[in-house]
Amino acid sequence: MKISHILILCTLFASSLGPVACIQRPDSLSTLLPDSNSNARLEKKYEDLIVGYAQLGAESEWRAANTISIKETAEQLGVELRFLDAQQKQDNQIEAVRKLIIQKVDIIGISPIVETGWEEVFQEAKNAGIPIILVDRRADVPEDFYVSYLGSDFLEEGRKAARIMADLVNEKASIVELVGTIGSAPANDRYLGFREILKEYPQMHIIDSESGDFTRARGREVMAAFLKKYGNEITAVYAHNDDMALGAIDAIEEYGLNPGQDIKIVSIDAARGAFEAMIAGKLNATVECNPLLGPQFFELALKVVNGQPIPKWVPSIEGIFFPEDASEILPTRKY
Ligand code: AHR
Repeated sequence: MKISHILILCTLFASSLGPVACIQRPDSLSTLLPDSNSNARLEKKYEDLIVGYAQLGAESEWRAANTISIKETAEQLGVELRFLDAQQKQDNQIEAVRKLIIQKVDIIGISPIVETGWEEVFQEAKNAGIPIILVDRRADVPEDFYVSYLGSDFLEEGRKAARIMADLVNEKASIVELVGTIGSAPANDRYLGFREILKEYPQMHIIDSESGDFTRARGREVMAAFLKKYGNEITAVYAHNDDMALGAIDAIEEYGLNPGQDIKIVSIDAARGAFEAMIAGKLNATVECNPLLGPQFFELALKVVNGQPIPKWVPSIEGIFFPEDASEILPTRKY
């Protein structure tokens, strides 16, 4: 077909769609040509997308893997990614969303550091016509403020941890809990899910519970303080993530006890460090929380931008791992 014919068709087609259609994509006239499947021909491709991502920080092995997954997938797909790191501060993360709105990105992905406090900035994104996908963590906002939540069932992770713990301690334990970042969705739900199952075990008690902010350094400090206060009374640790469990292992060894034996430890994430600790006999189990969300995130983003329907929640598929399988599985772990 001659160029002049293409331009005539484009002009005719544009008049039915509004002028924006032809102006937007001067580089690829052919995608605007009407045919039997004109909608498909108007669809954006990965290379057309500008995606903003407001990451919460770099607090754990899990988060590092999550960030790599987002960045690597964007590169592989040819998506233009505007990635901002809030360094564990909600104010920074809110500012990051505002910057992405000013930049007029096509869509924003965000892992909200805590559940509350998002309505105002999400409303700003909505006003600007920029959809939001919640990745990894939920936010406590009305459902029409985001298009989808892609991530884990944190309540179920807490329940799984409690069931495993019950088996390990023969249904009798004095547990200390290392809680994640206060107010975050995983900390809130892992706290509740664990307690829900514990009701079935009258001889299992949580004797103390404190935040280690999902970091190894804080996990170690909090565990050292628990040991100072309760000493040998502690028989089990429930850590909301692997990094804090690894910090607790350091503290238990410094105190002169054997982690994994004198004190049973169950954590969440299933990161490489947890497998190494299980192989060394220092950790008793880890419940998987999958950080490799890049491929699913960009697939959802493309669908949203193209106006295709997507589920309100896309759950991750996750398992539980024990020391007896750790050596075999470790080489296959990507994070
Ligand atoms: O939101 C997921 C949690 O955040 C991970 O379990 C934890 O390691 C991370 O910091």
